[in-house]
Amino acid sequence: MTYENSLAFAQQLDQDDPIGSFRDRFHIPQRNGHNVIYLCGNSLGLQPKAARVALDQELDTWQNLGVEGWFDKTEGADQPWLGYHNSCKDALSHIIGADLSEVCPMNALTVNLHLLLASFYRPTEKKYKILTIKGDFPSDQYALETHIKHHNLDPADTLIEIAPRPDYGESMPGLIHTTDIQRAIAEQANSLALIWMSGLNYYTGQVYNMAAIAETARKYCVPVGFDLAHAIGNVPLRLHEWGVDFATWCSYKYLNGGPGAVSGVFVHAKHHDQNLPRLAGWWGYREDKRFDMTPGFLPAPGADGWQVSTPNILALSLHRAAISITAEAGMPALRQKSEHLTGFLEYVLSPFNAIQLLTPDDPNQRGCQLSLLVRKNGRALFNYLTEQGIIGDWREPDCIRLAPTPLYNTFEEIWRVGDALRRFL
Ligand SMILES: Cc1ncc(COP(=O)(O)O)c(C=O)c1O
Repeated sequence: MTYENSLAFAQQLDQDDPIGSFRDRFHIPQRNGHNVIYLCGNSLGLQPKAARVALDQELDTWQNLGVEGWFDKTEGADQPWLGYHNSCKDALSHIIGADLSEVCPMNALTVNLHLLLASFYRPTEKKYKILTIKGDFPSDQYALETHIKHHNLDPADTLIEIAPRPDYGESMPGLIHTTDIQRAIAEQANSLALIWMSGLNYYTGQVYNMAAIAETARKYCVPVGFDLAHAIGNVPLRLHEWGVDFATWCSYKYLNGGPGAVSGVFVHAKHHDQNLPRLAGWWGYREDKRFDMTPGFLPAPGADGWQVSTPNILALSLHRAAISITAEAGMPALRQKSEHLTGFLEYVLSPFNAIQLLTPDDPNQRGCQLSLLVRKNGRALFNYLTEQGIIGDWREPDCIRLAPTPLYNTFEEIWRVGDALRRFL
């Protein structure tokens, strides 16, 4: 698309936007009586108007039926609580590109990572190392270290961290070549037990070539899992087709499920009959036998067998309401708008020499987020934007992350960001 830096141009793009009406499904935070320009979906997505209705529905069921809510439904409800998680699967499987049996909403991201590592990290004397990305989100690293130590191994010897090449230099600090990851897998294959990495880096906004990485991992028979916190609902995913072994994510960012919203797991169908070891709990037990209360764990088929505890139905109601909006808009339409919206943001930022982009300029290597490196007076610029009602987030020491989100951001808002920057810079 060829962009123009004018309000009229931006407004025309909004008028032509086939999914523009989805913005009305969200509450836009207010400041001084005006909508803010909310570019922080990479941290916490906005509240869908349907969230309160969905929550009220389950509060009504609880109020009217008490424990019977597990098996019965009140007026207006479409689903008793038992099996409520199943009613999230259509939307989730569309969003991540999975079969229904491969996906299950549950817990929070780091909790799920622990559950999945218990199943997929099975070091042997020779093959015990874990390949990951240097600078991935710290919670993942803490989880990896935990499991390494549980196996009486030394994290310093066990973790292989792929770092950015120095030849990216000043212009693109922090970016990783897919070929570096693939080469490391090939070179270390004899000692590798697992690959765990983000699909989209939270700091730089770089999307890794998950399909290519999964293919190389498969070639060398190393299980591969992805942290999709910043990828889900943001970039197209085809986890089943790519042969990814397992994944988890959070739904409070681009899925708009609310603060601390329900996460989920993906376990590829090829693992469903393998009777993998797991940290079992009664909710992962075969549903038809769960209430027999017999000893000896029999896992439910598919990803459901990784559940541990009774699902939080109130949280699931918010989750379901939110993901149905993403599924209704559809990932292809969201992605198409996202590329244009982020491209437009890149365009309106381009005249400002004080701002350097950390995020790749290739749309195939990024989602909606742009990370702005502002070495001089970065914090002052961030504070100014916030005062102007432009909400991004700040990462020490010099990075502003802005994430135009196709479900609720407009082209006019992006033009207004450029206009505000012109006044400051
Ligand atoms: C990339 C990434 N991984 C892991 C986490 C941790 O998620 P949680 O606190 O839901 O376990 C986050 C949180 O923002 C994240 O961005």
